[in-house]
Amino acid sequence: MNATLTRVPHLLHGGDYNPDQWLRYPEILEKDVELMKKAGCNAMSVGIFAWAALEPEEGKYEFGWLDQVIDRLYQNGIYTVLATPSGARPGWMAAKYPEVLRVNADGRRIPFSARHNHCPTSPVYREKVRLINTALARRYAGHPGVILWHISNEYGGACYCPLCREAFREWLKKKYGTLDELNHAWWTAFWSKTYPSWDLIDPPFDNGERGVHGLTLDWMRFVTDQTVDFMKAEVAPLKEANPALPVTTNMMGFYPGLNYFKFRDVSDVISWDNYPSWHEGDDRETALSTAMTHDLMRSIKPGKPFLMMESCPSAVNWKPYAKLKRPGMHELASLQAVARGSDSVQYFQWRKGRGGFEKFHGAVVGHLGTGDTREFREVEALGKRLKGLSKLAGSRFVSRAAIICDTENRWALQEMRGLIQEDKGYLAEVRRHYAPLFRMGVNVDLIDEESSLEGYELVAAPMLYMLRAGIAEKLRAFAEKGGTLVFTYWSGIVNDTDLTFLGGFPGGGLQELFGVRMEEIDTLYPADRNGAEVLPAGKEAGLQDRYEIRDYTEISHPAGAEVLAVYESDFIRGLPALTVNRFGKGRVYYAAAVFEDGFYRDFYRKLVSDLSLRPLEVDLPEGVYLSERRLEDNTSCYIFQNFNTEEVSLALPKTLTSLETGESLETLVLPGYGTVFLL
Ligand code: GLA
Ligand code: ZN
Repeated sequence: MNATLTRVPHLLHGGDYNPDQWLRYPEILEKDVELMKKAGCNAMSVGIFAWAALEPEEGKYEFGWLDQVIDRLYQNGIYTVLATPSGARPGWMAAKYPEVLRVNADGRRIPFSARHNHCPTSPVYREKVRLINTALARRYAGHPGVILWHISNEYGGACYCPLCREAFREWLKKKYGTLDELNHAWWTAFWSKTYPSWDLIDPPFDNGERGVHGLTLDWMRFVTDQTVDFMKAEVAPLKEANPALPVTTNMMGFYPGLNYFKFRDVSDVISWDNYPSWHEGDDRETALSTAMTHDLMRSIKPGKPFLMMESCPSAVNWKPYAKLKRPGMHELASLQAVARGSDSVQYFQWRKGRGGFEKFHGAVVGHLGTGDTREFREVEALGKRLKGLSKLAGSRFVSRAAIICDTENRWALQEMRGLIQEDKGYLAEVRRHYAPLFRMGVNVDLIDEESSLEGYELVAAPMLYMLRAGIAEKLRAFAEKGGTLVFTYWSGIVNDTDLTFLGGFPGGGLQELFGVRMEEIDTLYPADRNGAEVLPAGKEAGLQDRYEIRDYTEISHPAGAEVLAVYESDFIRGLPALTVNRFGKGRVYYAAAVFEDGFYRDFYRKLVSDLSLRPLEVDLPEGVYLSERRLEDNTSCYIFQNFNTEEVSLALPKTLTSLETGESLETLVLPGYGTVFLL
C-alpha cells in the first residue's frame, strides 16, 4: 500500500494534463481518456496553469469543465492530482493589481507575461490565492478521485519589489534584534559598510551590494522562508477542507535558488521533475548523476517514497539539443526513479498543445492524436510493467550511508572569494564520494546539516565549509557512538553567518574530531599535479601505492590522527594527504586534497566492506547499478539496471526470485537497457 497516498495501492503513472487548453475540442477530451487507459495511466495532474480558465473574471469561477474532467477520469479508473493555479496568474489580475507582478534583480517590474513570476509577499496575491484555493478545496477536497494536491509549480526565483524588501528587513530584525548584532554578523566594518539604519539594507540587486556575504546568504534564506511561508498559506485552506488529503510541490533537484530541505514539514510527500540529458556523453555517468538527484530529493524525507512528478517521454524542447530518447531508454530511466524510491512515473506532458512554448516538448500523445507512435507504445509497455510492480508502492529506501550536501553551505561556498573562483567544486566533491558507493550498490542518502544522523553508520561531509548550528555536536556524538566519518579539505572554516572561526581550522570544536590542525590551502592551476604516496597504514586501509592529486592541496599537521598518505612533491612533500583519527568508538577520516577517482573507489571499497554496507555481495559490471527497496514486511527488493547498450551477465550470491515472473535465478542475464526486480 502506498504509504502517503493511502487510497492508492499502485505506483502512479500519468502526467501533466491540460484539458483547459482544449475546451474547444470536446472530441479530444473524450479521446484523451481512451488513450490514457490504453497507456495504462492511473493519475493525471490537472489544473497546473489553469487560473485563467478557472476564474476568467475576478471572483467569477468556472468549475464546470473541471468537474467534468475529474469525474470522467475517476469513472475511468484514473486519479486526479489537483493543482493550485498560483504558478501563473490571470491577465485581469496583472492589469488590476500590478503589485502581484514580480520585480527582478535589475529593479524592473515585469509586465504580464510568462509564468513563475508572482510576488510571494504581495497581500493581494496571497488573498487571491487563498480565495481560489478555498474554492477548489470546498469543491474537490472530498472527491474520491482526488488523491493529492499539487501546490503551484516549481516554486523558484525571487522578487525584489518594495514589499519584499520591507519583508526582508523585518526578517532581519527578527533574526538579529539590533543593527549592532547584524553589523557584526555581516562584518560590515569592512569597506565602511556599517548599516546605520534598517532602511538602508537592500537585497543584492544586480547593481547593488554583492560583497557582503552575510547579506547574500541571509537574502537566500529569506527567499526560501518567504516561499515556504507562501506555500503554507496556499496549503492552509486545503487542509481546512480535508486535513487527510496530502500535499506536495514539484521541485527541481539541485536547483540552487531554494533550500528545499526547508520544505520538509509543509510537504506531505516530496516530488520533483526529472530531465536528464540522455545520450549526451556517457549514459552510465548521466545515470549516476540522475540517481544522485533522486537521492537528494528523497532524502528531504529520508526513507519515505517520493514522486517523480515530471519526466519526458521523448525530446525535451528547452534543452540546447532536442534529442529523442533511444528505444528502451524511456523504460530504463523511468524505472530508475522507482529503483531510487519513487512511487510514480509521471510525465510532462500528456498531450502536445497546438501552440505555445511547449508545443514541441515530448508528450505521451503527439499532434497525430493517436496511440500509433513509438513514443506512445513505449509508454504503454511501461504502463503494463508498472502494474506488475504494485508491490513496490509505499516500499522504503533505507540507507545506512549518507553524504551531507547542504544547500546553505553550497551558497556560502559559491559566494566566498578564493579557491577556484568560478566554481569552488562543491557538487563535484560530493559526487566523488557518492560515485563509488553508488557503483557498489550501497543505498545512500544525501542529507543536509539539519538532518538527523540516526540510523547511519557512515557519513561523508565533503567541503563542510560552513558549520551551521548544531552540526559539530551532532558529528562528534555520531563518532563517539561508533560512526565512521569522512571529511575533506576546506571544512570548519566559517559559522552560519559566514564569519571565520578564530584560533585554527577546522573550527567550531572539530579539531579534536579530525585530530588534525589545518594551516593553509593551495589552489592548483588546472595543469598542476601532485601525488599521494600511501604509507603502510594506508595500504591496510585498502589503498594502493600512489594516487594523483589536483585542484586543492590543504596543508595540515597531525594532532592526534594517524597519517595514511603523504604528499609526494612540491614544498609540502611529506605532509599528510590522508589521515584517520580514533574518536570515541568511531573513526574519522580526513582527505586533504582532491584525488583521482581510483582513490575514492579503493578507499570506500574497504570502508564498505568493513561496515558490510552492500545489500548483496555482488561485483557489478560497469554501468550496472543496484538499488534496494524495503517492502512492507521488511524484505528486500533488489533492482538491477543495465545502462549499457549490450547485454551483461553476473553471478548472484544467492538464489533470487523475479518479482515480475516468479522465476528463480542464480545468474542474472540483463539485456542492454534492461531492469529486473528480484526478491
Ligand atoms: C518544468 C515545468 C513544466 C514544463 C516542463 C518542460 O518541469 O514544471 O511545466 O515546463 O518543465 O520540461
Ligand atoms: Zn515582491
